[in-house]
Amino acid sequence: MPAAPTILFAGDIVGGLGRRTLLGLLPQLREQFETTFVVVNGENIAGGLGITPKLADELLAGGVDAITLGNHTYRRAEIIPYLDSGKPIVRPANYLATQPGRGWTVVEKDGVRLAVVSLSGNLHLRAGRVAFLEVESVLRELEGKADHVLVDMHAELTSEKVAMGWHLDGRVTAVVGTHTHVPTADARVLPGGTAYITDVGMTGPRGGVLGVKKEQSIQSLRTHMNVRYETSDEDPWINAVVIRCSETPRRAEAIEQVLAPWRPAPQAAGRS
Ligand code: FE2
Repeated sequence: MPAAPTILFAGDIVGGLGRRTLLGLLPQLREQFETTFVVVNGENIAGGLGITPKLADELLAGGVDAITLGNHTYRRAEIIPYLDSGKPIVRPANYLATQPGRGWTVVEKDGVRLAVVSLSGNLHLRAGRVAFLEVESVLRELEGKADHVLVDMHAELTSEKVAMGWHLDGRVTAVVGTHTHVPTADARVLPGGTAYITDVGMTGPRGGVLGVKKEQSIQSLRTHMNVRYETSDEDPWINAVVIRCSETPRRAEAIEQVLAPWRPAPQAAGRS
């Protein structure tokens, strides 16, 4: 295997502003961290809910190597055929076998094969199979197919994500948590050599509530009435991690957080 790769993983990309934040910052981040692979969670990119083929193509054309999803995978019907088109986009592996898409993909660069696996938590999220059992089948399928393995554990509860980190420690390169949109301060390499973080956070408007306009969220919480949510356009940030892989297959040397604002020219920020 060639020199150890570096992976940049960006947390849930929220809306058009999140997409522009990622693509706006990506060139300098790739240079700064000398990244080999870029992986993002894209399930909130279409106006906050779901993803479309056009947006997925835009990410892939902009330097993203693989896209992970989660509970909003099927929000946009037009994405369904795309999920089975062979593109590097994955929905949780522990969904029902009858649901469209696949749970892992392998992307190759500079002679290194990176497997990207999506899992959904089972607590407070609808996933047909148990993540802790299904991941064993995935790892069996990946035997001999990948030099490094990145697992996106898309889950509501911190406990479930921490447990998955321990469950896979020493067997995969990294377990990164997504879905709750708030970055946690526990990034570390576990004793067995697996890079871990409970939640990478969100790439998009930090000036809202998990990506939506704060006034609308507060109104809903104050009035208990239905409120139409729109994505916020305030204070875009990228929340990501950089994982330095080991020369030993499926192990990591280091993980560090990348939490940075995007300050574009006004016309670039304002576009929809
Ligand atoms: Fe989610």
